[in-house]
Amino acid sequence: MIVTNPITNPVTNPIAISIRDVTLVRGTTTVFDHLTLQLDEARIGLIGDNGAGKSSLFRLLCGLDTPQSGAVLVRGYDVRQANPQRAQSVGMLFQNPEDQIIFPTVEEELAFSLHAMHLSRRAARVRTHEFLAARGLEHWAGRTIGSLSQGQRQHVCWLALLIASPHVLLLDEPFSSLDLPGRVLLSQEIANAAQQIILSTHLLDHVRDFARVIWLDKGQVRADGLGREVCAAYETDVAQRTTNRTLGYGKPLL
Ligand SMILES: Nc1ncnc2c1ncn2[C@@H]1O[C@H](COP(=O)(O)OP(=O)(O)OP(=O)(O)O)[C@@H](O)[C@H]1O
Ligand SMILES: [Mg+2]
Repeated sequence: MIVTNPITNPVTNPIAISIRDVTLVRGTTTVFDHLTLQLDEARIGLIGDNGAGKSSLFRLLCGLDTPQSGAVLVRGYDVRQANPQRAQSVGMLFQNPEDQIIFPTVEEELAFSLHAMHLSRRAARVRTHEFLAARGLEHWAGRTIGSLSQGQRQHVCWLALLIASPHVLLLDEPFSSLDLPGRVLLSQEIANAAQQIILSTHLLDHVRDFARVIWLDKGQVRADGLGREVCAAYETDVAQRTTNRTLGYGKPLL
């Protein structure tokens, strides 16, 4: 463990997320066993091996999964409780666009993201077209999702999150399908966004400069501190494991 950030009161800090003594079981796997974390910083990176629990943590934070015990508070409210403001509090960019996208066209998908703002269908459509036009993407409005490449679908997921503009953005491996220009542009948009952002990635350079990075290891916090230090510690550990030809979950490398 490198550094653990002190717990602060979520009620007095408007961007706080509190995970309190949470146990989460998915299927037959205990993903988190009494996990406690306070997430206050404007930018937080989340790293760790496949299966470490990064996506599960995000699912907890946006209420998609309910912990068996413990509590998750986002901006002061318990995510287990029905809350009409939830959609405006926290939004997630899914690791797999197919898990996020519901509608057949880009326009419908983005317009649906505005539902929490209680706009009329027409107003949502107008807002969607303005939003796409401002990005030089008006020609995407009528495109069917099925006609887009994987990276373009990931881009639509990001746009759906941006147009909804919740206070907290959970980005689950947002760079994985993007080309180089897409990665640069998304990095710039992340840097400029006003929201709190928690970003999971296997591409460590995207979080190395963050003030805080958390390394999850089998559902536990292995290190928590400056991005440079935590990424370096993880890389050293990976180098040792791959030298020993094991991935770390008991299976020798081929
Ligand atoms: N739908 C599911 N049902 C049961 N167990 C699951 C499910 N999804 C994930 N798990 C298990 O939960 C644990 C954490 O998985 P999770 O998807 O959160 O990892 P991750 O860190 O996001 O991994 P990756 O880097 O591969 O995306 C793993 O042991 C995984 O096998
Ligand atoms: Mg994942």
